[in-house]
Amino acid sequence: MAFNKIASDPQILVIFGASGDLTQRKLVPAIYQMHLERRLPPEITIVGVARREWSHDFFREHMREGVEEFGGGLQSEEIWNNFAQGLFYCSGNIDQPESYEKLKQFLAELDEQRGTRGNRVFYLSVAPRFFGEATQQLGKAGMIEDPSKQRLAIEKPFGRDLASAQELNRIVQKVCDERQVYRIDHYLGKETVQNLLVFRFANAIFEPLWNRQYVDHVQITVAEQVGLEGRAGYYETAGALRDMVQNHLMQLFCLTAMEPPNSLDADSIRGEKVKVLQATHLADAENIDRSAVRGQYTNGWMKGKAVPGYRDEEGADPGSTTPTYAAIKLSIDNWRWKGVPFYLRTGKRMPKKVSEIAIQFKDVPFLMFQSAAKQANPNVLSMRIQPDEGIGMRFEVKTPGSSLRTRSVEMDFRYDAAFGKASTDAYSRLLIDCMLGDQTLFTRGDEVEASWRILTPLLQVWDAPAAPESIPLYEAGTWEPVEAELLMNRDGRRWRRL
Ligand code: BG6
Repeated sequence: MAFNKIASDPQILVIFGASGDLTQRKLVPAIYQMHLERRLPPEITIVGVARREWSHDFFREHMREGVEEFGGGLQSEEIWNNFAQGLFYCSGNIDQPESYEKLKQFLAELDEQRGTRGNRVFYLSVAPRFFGEATQQLGKAGMIEDPSKQRLAIEKPFGRDLASAQELNRIVQKVCDERQVYRIDHYLGKETVQNLLVFRFANAIFEPLWNRQYVDHVQITVAEQVGLEGRAGYYETAGALRDMVQNHLMQLFCLTAMEPPNSLDADSIRGEKVKVLQATHLADAENIDRSAVRGQYTNGWMKGKAVPGYRDEEGADPGSTTPTYAAIKLSIDNWRWKGVPFYLRTGKRMPKKVSEIAIQFKDVPFLMFQSAAKQANPNVLSMRIQPDEGIGMRFEVKTPGSSLRTRSVEMDFRYDAAFGKASTDAYSRLLIDCMLGDQTLFTRGDEVEASWRILTPLLQVWDAPAAPESIPLYEAGTWEPVEAELLMNRDGRRWRRL
């Protein structure tokens, strides 16, 4: 897991679904940035594949706009022109064998032209229902046969429940070797997420406290300010649990709760994640309401502007029961964590964009400072994933003066103050690792299944038809619905105000 890796083998990145947002906003700007940093070989070639009949030049222009608007800008016309010579477009239909034959031939021509020697990453950025079809077609066309040269990267969500994830794994593993498969969870590409491993396992002082003896509970929060962003078609079939919890939050959970791996190689780390997932379950699977709360935002105010409620968003069903907020309580049956609840929550249209993991320690065994008892707070270690990346530690100190009163203060480490520069974009990191064949930051087949297994009892309840009035609501621009407060209050705890 070296910093600033450099890919040396010339390759072709084939992006299926290239007319979609992800390609223009994230993938190509990330690759261009790496090109600027000279982390890619000059022969790097990108082939966009989608149904629309675009020319190479149209695709180049569209990508240029993406780099200008969503990336760090072109920096120089000359560098852009040089990069753009490696951008190509090949129209095709995901379910038509002829499209794959045409693509195969085009890639072979590019190998000749650009010296890419059969090295390819096939990146599936299409609607999830096409993941299986595209993989099968690539297999049938014999395009993904050589594990040393060809890789398959698949965007999330991988499946929509345990059964569909198993089915997709079966298809993928029939076509190629697990060593060729890169299941993307862009949270794993975030610098601060990777830092969780360093923080836990490169410091001697925290690990001894990282267990049921000292930890009262853990809160993992991923709050977003954005709403639907024009993605109703996808989001209506997904909701917060599938969109965020099964992947991003469960990954944060794994890295916080797992045992130390034997080494940093991909399978050691992924093996530990699977182990902790296998020991994890919803706190009360018999009584889902005691383990989970969903919510949906209504109209409200964000940054001084009126915003519509979820049901009024373009493309959303006016009677939709899709959750835009989810909070769950997990229990882990192992020696380290038995009895320590992990609370996970995520929501759209929250007052703030903030992701953090907070470890709340137990109270002191008895409090000497009786007169100040009300002010004593438990110690909290908070790891801020974004924004304001950093780590904070809350502890008690004596307030100046003649009485022995205590107050909570925060010791704060900030990435930007220490290192002074923005961290590497998550997609850059993942793309380069995929090109290098390092699977550490990608989820393994059994790992995705283990995560779906935990959530499936909840999905079964939340997927069942429900009256729109039965879904707890929260106003856009406010924190969770009251029901989520109750989930915590029942345990004598509170969500952190961030
Ligand atoms: C994506 C979800 O995976 O992650 C989006 O589909 C969400 O709904 C996004 O907004 C959040 O990513 P980030 O990096 O902005 O926290």
